Amino acid sequence: MCYSIPGKVLEVNDTLVTLDYFGEKRKARNELFQISCGEYAYAQGGFIIQKIPGVQAEAILDSWQELFFKLKEIDKRLARDSGTRYQKANQIRQRYHGNSCCVHGIIEFSNYCRNDCLYCGIQHKNLSLKRYRMEAAEIIDAAVYAVKKLGFKALVLQSGEDEYYDEDTLIAVVEGVMRQSPCLLTLSIGERSPDTFEALYRKGLRGVLLRFETSNPQIYATMKPGHSLNQRLELLVTLRKMGYLIMTGFLIGLPGWRKEDIIKDISLTAELGAEMFSFGPFIPCPDTPLAKEVQASLETALEVIAEARIRNPEAKILVTTALETLDKKNALQLGLMAGANSIMLNVTPSRYRQLYSIYPFRAGTDTAIESRIEFVVNLLQSLGRAPTDLGVS
Ligand code: 5AD
Repeated sequence: MCYSIPGKVLEVNDTLVTLDYFGEKRKARNELFQISCGEYAYAQGGFIIQKIPGVQAEAILDSWQELFFKLKEIDKRLARDSGTRYQKANQIRQRYHGNSCCVHGIIEFSNYCRNDCLYCGIQHKNLSLKRYRMEAAEIIDAAVYAVKKLGFKALVLQSGEDEYYDEDTLIAVVEGVMRQSPCLLTLSIGERSPDTFEALYRKGLRGVLLRFETSNPQIYATMKPGHSLNQRLELLVTLRKMGYLIMTGFLIGLPGWRKEDIIKDISLTAELGAEMFSFGPFIPCPDTPLAKEVQASLETALEVIAEARIRNPEAKILVTTALETLDKKNALQLGLMAGANSIMLNVTPSRYRQLYSIYPFRAGTDTAIESRIEFVVNLLQSLGRAPTDLGVS
């Protein structure tokens, strides 16, 4: 953001670039820029996403130098394992990733949805919800603001399954954002044709966030009437083959979900080659068929993060907004200390933020983004986390 360090280019080997961060080497793919040794660039998710003039980069690096090594020490000290499952997971995270933490911004640009997922507050059948849509130019402006003014380097644009945005509109959005404020751009718009995603990839889109929601085909069919798990999984496999970074995962504690499902759900996330694991606790939402069901507990959600980390040391694991919602003061820290190493901040324009109510009282919808960033940066520093890109494997 707000929390990112530029790397110095040490080596360029066709599209593979080696970057140096205070002596640490990381690799990143470069598909968008002319780049040569000695120049500086930001990388995200293993991609070069912005070049930065040398003078500017050196000033930023100067301001980070001392802090960078101090943070590493703090992280190491906090990552001692004294026996709990969370601590074990955190120690693995520290060993495999050091103190790197990815910070993404998310812009929720439409709460219209053609689907009727039983758990979801923006389902088509919910007539009590006030709907909104941002026009393409407004989405681009919000993204440019997040990148240029707030300093985000990775953005997710999310909506319900809203066909108002046809392929040409989506292309215009991706093109507009990438031209005005290049970043690691991810879309989370539900299912679309592979052709549409292919066209978007050509315009610079590199990430897709699409949860499979549950590895249990029966629960899936019940929760998402008219849809099949297979169709979802096929799309995810196709997208990964296209070159997309896949962010996927599931809902913890849907009705019918049992603790035994944790392992299956985590394994499926890994099998899909997820670049980032995203698991959120189910939170019952008023005006949906599941309004009276039981909410997943904070402990279960943390256990899932820890289990995922122990089984997949190399994964990037997100602390989701739903987890943060379960304990607005502490859950972010608890997630980061139970094996997670990525976070997402809501940068939707404030007039829309509360309307994207997939579940009630979402974290990050009632605070100005500037103070939220301040809170998060302070928290990350108190935990010794620094923003280097984790690189390509
Ligand atoms: N509780 C928690 N997460 C939810 N989502 C939708 N409804 C809920 C809910 N009630 C999640 C789904 C979807 C993502 C955008 O939001 O997993 O993929």
